[in-house]
Amino acid sequence: VRVFVPRDTTALSLGADAVAARLEREARARGLALTLVRNGSRGAAWLEPLVEVETANGRLAFGPVIAEDIPGLLDAGLLDGDLLAGDTGHPLALGPTEALPWFARQQRLTFARIGLTDPLSIADYLAHDGYRGLETALTRTPQELVEEVKASGLRGRGGAAFPTGIKWQTVLDTPADQKYIVCNADEGDSGTFADRLAMECDPYLLIEGMTIAGLAVGATQGYIYLRSEYPLAKTILDAAIAHAEAAGYLGDDIRGSGHAFHLEVRLGAGAYICGEETSLLESLEGKRGLVRFKPPLPAIEGLFGRPTVVNNVLSLAAVPFILAEGAQAYADVGMGRSRGTLALQLAGNVKRGGLVELAFGASLRTLMEEFGGGTASGRPLRAVQVGGPLCAYLPESQWDLPLDYEAFAEVGAGVGHGGVVMFDDSVDMAEQARFSMEFCKTESCGKCTPCRIGSTRGVEVIDRIRAGENRAANLALLGELCETMEDGSLCAMGGMTPFPVRSALTHFPDDFRRPVEGD
Ligand code: NAI
Ligand code: SF4
Repeated sequence: VRVFVPRDTTALSLGADAVAARLEREARARGLALTLVRNGSRGAAWLEPLVEVETANGRLAFGPVIAEDIPGLLDAGLLDGDLLAGDTGHPLALGPTEALPWFARQQRLTFARIGLTDPLSIADYLAHDGYRGLETALTRTPQELVEEVKASGLRGRGGAAFPTGIKWQTVLDTPADQKYIVCNADEGDSGTFADRLAMECDPYLLIEGMTIAGLAVGATQGYIYLRSEYPLAKTILDAAIAHAEAAGYLGDDIRGSGHAFHLEVRLGAGAYICGEETSLLESLEGKRGLVRFKPPLPAIEGLFGRPTVVNNVLSLAAVPFILAEGAQAYADVGMGRSRGTLALQLAGNVKRGGLVELAFGASLRTLMEEFGGGTASGRPLRAVQVGGPLCAYLPESQWDLPLDYEAFAEVGAGVGHGGVVMFDDSVDMAEQARFSMEFCKTESCGKCTPCRIGSTRGVEVIDRIRAGENRAANLALLGELCETMEDGSLCAMGGMTPFPVRSALTHFPDDFRRPVEGD
């Protein structure tokens, strides 16, 4: 019997290694045969460690399992078929994994394979449709590849939603002796983990996407700029790159095509601003992560002054599907100008957190209630921050908006990288607004004044408002400060910090009138 116990960071932090060890020990002691597969997570963090048992009718799920549950599960027939009939009534038996509504209601295109395979097995990857996109790409010209990505409607999943195909076109059209593909894996937004899941649970997907990007624009070298807080992703990516090289999917002559593509992982050092593309390039060049002026765009003068595609993990990870299934299959999903799917990451005060991949157009309410199951605290939901620390807080009146770049932009909100952080009614939104300024103060690269100084002044002004000092004058001052930061900052760090602050002021004004604790 094949049993799957995930080994991604989330499952490991919840005791997956202990579960796997106990399972092997107990099975041995009972003389039961077992093949243990350490797969990636399927993304349901609330069910981790999610143990699955393979049957003739698909996999059966048990979770969340801790090591102490193993003897009971074996007593109930985990490995001898009783549970497979689903009639034992063991409290951790969840039935067929695919039939769980949490998974069945999702539309997984990019994350179709996570949790199904041993992340490091190329054979598993190939058996689950892996490298079909690259095989197609090897039969196409660079311009045809760029056209395919344009036709898919894919937009940058890091948050800015710039059309990926147009970015690739700029790099393709810029002549140079060397071009680069840089993957932005510095996933720094609060509440986000989709990049990590993709890299830890399906690393060849990103490698394949980057290789296709290299073929499309004529780049022979790629770098994955990975945040240092993801050590397991580094280990997995390094091993996957070595396996892909050995199997001829990376190197000087990819699958005998004569095309070359090399890939390396580089670690960041823990600065949020290094997720901004020009700062990331500085860091990759071995310098301090300071934001560069644009223009020139990285697509024209990027890494070491050469034309460079800088794409988020999820943008690149969407590409193999587009090549394998055709641009139309991707473009058929979504709404308006937001095509394809969005990887939403449910976090914060949520009962059932994890990765939910849905076509654009679903509502936040559906996401938070049907998938999230409401708050973990059981208290009423009050606010939700979508898109990371630089995006707005949304009150209940906006929870029926469709998740779509344009619909969110219209109300001053952002979809960003798909992070969804939920708060119950105990949240103090003035404190959250202060946190936004404080975050900007801490993470500012210091290059421009509105952000470097403005964020410090922002914290002070919010403190005065909360203390009830000259409220009207200080509120007006905060408004002006937000305007200056928005108009005068060089990058999104200072330029977007006003969004969460303004949304808190607009939608939760009473919180700025509450006495501060301790007063
Ligand atoms: P941007 O709008 O300046 O640029 C978007 C992308 O398009 C860049 O890669 C830019 O170089 C490229 N581009 C623009 N015009 C082009 C052209 N004609 N040809 C080729 N490429 C072109 O946005 P920026 O500053 O890169 O990103 C801001 C966004 O980042 C925000 O919307 C925010 O949501 C998101 N963000 C994401 C974080 C995360 O952890 N994923 C953290 C912080 C912010
Ligand atoms: Fe640096 Fe902030 Fe200016 Fe961005 S806005 S360049 S982070 S000082």
